[in-house]
Amino acid sequence: MRTQVGIVGAGPAGLLLSHLLHLQGIASVVLDNRSREEIERTIRAGVLEQGTVDLLTRVGLGERLAREALFHRGVYLRFAGRTHHIDMQALAGGRVTIYPQHEVLKDLIRAREDAGGQVLFEAMVTGIEGLDAAPAITYQHGGRERRLECDFVAGCDGSHGVCSRALPDRGVERFERTYPFAWFGILVEAPQSSDELVYVSHARGFALLSTRSPTLQRLYLQCDPGDRVEDWPDERIWSELRARTAADDWSLKEGRITHRLVVGMRSAVAEPMQHGRLFLAGDAAHVVPPTGAKGLNLAVSDVEVLADGFAHHYRDRDGRALASYSADRLPRIWKGQRFSWWMTTLLHRGPADTAFDERRRMAELVELVASPHLCAAFAANYLGVRPLTYA
Ligand code: PHB
Repeated sequence: MRTQVGIVGAGPAGLLLSHLLHLQGIASVVLDNRSREEIERTIRAGVLEQGTVDLLTRVGLGERLAREALFHRGVYLRFAGRTHHIDMQALAGGRVTIYPQHEVLKDLIRAREDAGGQVLFEAMVTGIEGLDAAPAITYQHGGRERRLECDFVAGCDGSHGVCSRALPDRGVERFERTYPFAWFGILVEAPQSSDELVYVSHARGFALLSTRSPTLQRLYLQCDPGDRVEDWPDERIWSELRARTAADDWSLKEGRITHRLVVGMRSAVAEPMQHGRLFLAGDAAHVVPPTGAKGLNLAVSDVEVLADGFAHHYRDRDGRALASYSADRLPRIWKGQRFSWWMTTLLHRGPADTAFDERRRMAELVELVASPHLCAAFAANYLGVRPLTYA
């Protein structure tokens, strides 16, 4: 089999890239070792930046999103038992869009299907070769060894995938940080406890009240990275959540927990994000902790730039945009890294933190909510828009 761009990974990066290439008349094949059901069922991120919504809408993927997404003006920060609203729409001119990643994936898979696109599920990639001149992806599908020859390989298979490992050691620098805490995430059948997301900083640890729909809530609490789901019986989950989110005239709405998982927290970047005819996008190239909700959004903006590079290559016979893909993306990726790190360290406490760290963090939170400039910077970063009120 032969195609122009072989795409490894049917996550948001891989499927959106395939869709964008199709709109430019460029052929691609997407390979993923998971089944379609697993991909469409796996619960991941939920917050879309304004630019992500705009892009999805521009390329014909915004219809269900416009109908079913929840749109919030901002978020709440809660600390020292007080709740502060950050009105992001007023501060930065955009909205917080809640539309789960697996719904984006359903829309993408449907669009690829309608266009006759090739997405091979349950296709296990075993290697990529010939990255200097004539790439090929080897994979197993339907019990057979197969080979996809292509002009380029797009590595969209996440941080533990084949493509990230295919970057050579020489000439590639990897930057990494792991955090000494994790998130325990649950889905709850209950009404919303708050009209907008609540980020909580508490001496017992971070908590986040997010949502998926008016009847399904997504709640997180900081836990130990070694914790397993079994370590958290329901009563422990609820008593921790109640303690951390407590505030005047407010109560947590509880319900049946339908899903639980432990999410690790890591920051990582590989530089450059390309090698020969291999281009990495999304988690294959960089990972952020979930606090700033940046992961999916960075992946989307990666493939927007990458699709443009392929379009210049095929349409104009101009390889310059592809050659500078990594250099073009890295400043934005580091901006997202900086923000995700900042939000994570501001709201969590590490096991080695001292009373000094606690006081310093509290002072920073107080300064943040008191300053329109700092709030505007926070809002612009969170929404991924240009700031309105500061330089
Ligand atoms: C989520 O709903 O999964 C979510 C929301 C906000 C975050 C991270 C995760 O910052």
